[in-house]
Amino acid sequence: MTEMPDLRRRRLLQAGALSTAAMLLPLDALAAAVAQGLRGEPPRDAFIDGLIAQMTLEEKAGQLNLLPDGSRPDGKAFNPAVMESTQGQLLAAIKAGQVTGLFNGIGVDGARALQKIAIEQSRLKIPLIFAGDIIHGLKTVFPVPLGEASAFDTDLSERTARGAALEATAMGIQWTFAPMVDIARDQRWGRVVEGAGEDPYLGSLLAAARVRGFQGKDLSKPDTMLASLKHFAAYGAVGGGMDYNSADIPETTLRAVHLPPFHAGVDAGALSVMSSFNDIAGVPSTGNHHLLTDILRDEWGFQGLVVSDWTSEQELVAHGFAADDKDAARKSLMAGCDMSMTSGIYLKHLPALVTEGSVPVAVLDRAVRRVLHVKKVLGLFADPYRSLDPAAAAQRVRTPEMIALSREAGHRSVVLLKNEGDLLPLPASGLKLALIGPFGEDTENLMGAWAIFADKTKGVSLAAGLKSALGADASKLEVVKGSDITAPIAGGIDAAVAAARRADVVLLAIGEAENMSGEAHSRVDIGIPAAQLALAEAVAATGKPVVVVLRHGRALALHGAVLDARAIVAGWFLGSETGNALADILFGKQAPSGRLPVSFPRESGQQPYFYNHRNTGRPQVSAKDVAYKARYDETPNEARFPFGHGLTYGRVEYGATSVSAASLGWDGEVTVSATLTNRGKRAAREVAQLYLHQRVSQLTRPVRELKGFEAVTLKPGESRTVTFKLRRGDLEVIQPDLKFGAEAGWFDAVIAPNAAAGTLQGFQLAPAAG
Ligand code: NOJ
Repeated sequence: MTEMPDLRRRRLLQAGALSTAAMLLPLDALAAAVAQGLRGEPPRDAFIDGLIAQMTLEEKAGQLNLLPDGSRPDGKAFNPAVMESTQGQLLAAIKAGQVTGLFNGIGVDGARALQKIAIEQSRLKIPLIFAGDIIHGLKTVFPVPLGEASAFDTDLSERTARGAALEATAMGIQWTFAPMVDIARDQRWGRVVEGAGEDPYLGSLLAAARVRGFQGKDLSKPDTMLASLKHFAAYGAVGGGMDYNSADIPETTLRAVHLPPFHAGVDAGALSVMSSFNDIAGVPSTGNHHLLTDILRDEWGFQGLVVSDWTSEQELVAHGFAADDKDAARKSLMAGCDMSMTSGIYLKHLPALVTEGSVPVAVLDRAVRRVLHVKKVLGLFADPYRSLDPAAAAQRVRTPEMIALSREAGHRSVVLLKNEGDLLPLPASGLKLALIGPFGEDTENLMGAWAIFADKTKGVSLAAGLKSALGADASKLEVVKGSDITAPIAGGIDAAVAAARRADVVLLAIGEAENMSGEAHSRVDIGIPAAQLALAEAVAATGKPVVVVLRHGRALALHGAVLDARAIVAGWFLGSETGNALADILFGKQAPSGRLPVSFPRESGQQPYFYNHRNTGRPQVSAKDVAYKARYDETPNEARFPFGHGLTYGRVEYGATSVSAASLGWDGEVTVSATLTNRGKRAAREVAQLYLHQRVSQLTRPVRELKGFEAVTLKPGESRTVTFKLRRGDLEVIQPDLKFGAEAGWFDAVIAPNAAAGTLQGFQLAPAAG
């Protein structure tokens, strides 16, 4: 019996009158309101208040000034250059109390040296905090978050986040800029790879799991790290899927789709949030009081700190929301962005803004208090050298356990899209295999976006993984590149075709390079690059059975010989153990169980494409139903591979969904169940999914929404009944008043293997008595 998680049973508190009104209050009234304390502020603390009382305005602004670690510049290459400072300047700034922390440097010795200056040479001895983009591992790299989301497994996501925290804190990082919890409904957007995909329910569960993994049970322990929910908010809703673009969505969509994972992360205890680059309907997030204060603090009760995203506070000027840097500093701080990342404009302008009365000192103090609170919770005042233990790296980095976890996460992330005639798994001996394509021996594109500290030399290529699995039969594997990722290579296709002819089965390793997804890497065409398509066509023409093994950071539009291959494996970027994890699946040592966290469309032009769309007034109900219907002329609406799809090596059949009662009382409960039977010859781990639909409502509702899932393991011939309990809280959706609530009326439920399968069963939510 599966209990529905409590995420949607949220009780949204009334927006605090104080801060909503604060936008309209004169500054002294605002200052008084702030001084009294608002909901969503850290508890008052005599030590912190005492510290603030001693601080100069410049020292206060210094606590809000986060800088890239120019002394250990690993992260610099991953962000646009905006400022250069010499080592001497940086050390002087730390000594003067002008820096709150540094990010994307790595290594305990360097961090200890910097911390020593803050603790021994700065006036108030406030410790620095060391941050980093540890998104899916540090030296040991786990699958990209989108890949790992395919496991539909909160425990796995918690364990890999824990693993990342163990390594990162062993190397001097106390704060990660993760998890990235943006819902992405448009696969052109390159940053879909960093999150959990298109679904808010799955995204919320995984957001909470990753926060728990990074932060552990006690954030003061030196092997835990502060999590940062990013990018707040609606960054995944950027127009046209173009990174950094504006998001034009109504607040109903914002709250129904994009905010739930952030709320779940806050409820799970995340103590930092990063504001996003984009504007929503004309208000840039970093200057958005409604978002950063009304919703985050007053409704959700967030008590941590908000940090900007790499100059996003300064970018209010380019947005046309602030006149100059000084105006941008004022607007972002007043909106609720507590810490400036990189630009230095808080340090430069806040003291003068306070002196001249444009920013109440109470607002500055409020931001400082939030930052110092987080530093205190992390235990930095008690031990400024927490997570800076020179012995830890040897004990916690790239341990056998960590590598095994990466391999396990790799298995679980693979999604078997197609497997005609049970071509997979392949026998591990006796076959002549040709591994063809640019990703066969490649070790440059294993990790995926944001693995900036990865040790690429230790990554296992697909070729290496296959050879190690084949052992004595490794000589029967012929490896031919055939094509580069985006360009043909001279004689490549001829060599590939010759190898295919000599083989019994072809493994075609094709897809996207690592830098075709991630930040600033949006695409207009989400297909396989033309040079690789030509290779695929030529190889297919040999008539040999082909297994396509995809490498990719988004859902793809597949065509031609790629789509027609006998088997297709969605392999994402699996990280350090890529080749081993894939070989285990291909040879059946492990069975595939991943499900798509994003819909694979037929064509790029269908984007944004997501399963939980609304019905429209003119839905197409059958393939023949074409006149004046919501459809494109050239392609059917159905997904090529729907959200939730993923085959196993078994053959699982779903019995009809049944609902225990036709009517669910207002305070009652019904159960929804279906029996699954494995009619195949191999065991299967099947992820059964519960979808709901509300027939009539004040706001039109998605055709289906994921509301639960459960993994069951079925031996050949075995049957199991999967059951979900439903109560009114599970039927709550966003209402016109922007609160979650349930409406009496008719609903449909289905338990299915994916978002496009199964027959909906109706039941009624009875109105409240009286
Ligand atoms: C910009 C990215 O948007 C963000 O995700 C990252 O954490 C920062 N740069 C810091 O590197």
